Amino acid sequence: DIERSLRPKRLKEYIGQQKAKETIAIFVEAARQRGEALDHVLLFGPPGLGKTTLSNIIANEMGVNIRVTSGPAIERQGDLAAILTNLSEGDILFIDEIHRLSRAVEEILYPAMEDYALDIVLGKGPGARSIRLELPKFTLIGATTRAGMLASPLRDRFGIISRLEFYSAEELTEIVLRAARILNVSIEKSGAAEIARRSRGTPRVANRLLKRVRDYAQVKAQGEITAEVAAEALEFFEVDPLGMDQTDRRLLYTIIEKFNGGPVGLDTIAAATSEEPDTVEDVLEPFLMQLGFIARTPRGRVVTPQAYRHLGIPLKNDAEGDN
Ligand code: ADE
Repeated sequence: DIERSLRPKRLKEYIGQQKAKETIAIFVEAARQRGEALDHVLLFGPPGLGKTTLSNIIANEMGVNIRVTSGPAIERQGDLAAILTNLSEGDILFIDEIHRLSRAVEEILYPAMEDYALDIVLGKGPGARSIRLELPKFTLIGATTRAGMLASPLRDRFGIISRLEFYSAEELTEIVLRAARILNVSIEKSGAAEIARRSRGTPRVANRLLKRVRDYAQVKAQGEITAEVAAEALEFFEVDPLGMDQTDRRLLYTIIEKFNGGPVGLDTIAAATSEEPDTVEDVLEPFLMQLGFIARTPRGRVVTPQAYRHLGIPLKNDAEGDN
């Protein structure tokens, strides 16, 4: 399937995230040389930057199996126990959104990570006993959008912590060119650069925009993606030159029009825009903060003067005072 084939399989195919890549390459090499399981890895950063891809690559580089699940999917202790007891020596367990594990499930995870052991309580009340099951030496890879949301006993049990950053326009251009090659799309480098510039630092967005621009080019421009065609297509899809789309603009307009530019709390913003607070905080805000369009203050979020300028909205004096 095409979606999967776009994902790089090995570290050397993976573009960008230089620091994370170099770090991982060293620890993978060292663990392989010693014939041991890789230490537990925590990957954090905004969505769409390649945490899942990187985990699959680590499994390929280590030559082990990977089992993929997520925090919300593991509802009960027994769910995690079942997964852990089915792993083989050296295998990787990937838990996406690990900050959403319940306390009870986290408690099972601690001895599993630290001692490769599963403590099972038999019975209830005064007669209850506990037995300890040995687990294979496995590697946990946890992914989270916010490392700060992880309880520190959990965070402290990861030997390797790697932060993923937004990609540069140059890196995204390479990613778009690579995807275009795989998808057999005719594209000029300047066309790829135009898509990259509007991809908010995120490969997932770049690959999605590439597909939409391909459709547009096919119907409107004989299939060739030049810089002009890419710009025209993305204007048509209402992705502006900074990569802001309707959702981003709606968020800014809401704060400006309903809350006089802020400060306003996260939950209030979410309710006013009908978005989930998590979506606002994990997906929309990091990008708008990176652009310098939203700032966090102790009293809530504010829209910055740069955002007013970009949107062509005059700054009112009282809003200026708040900023
Ligand atoms: N596709 C999505 N992310 C990628 C990356 N970091 N490198 C290469 N191709 C990608």
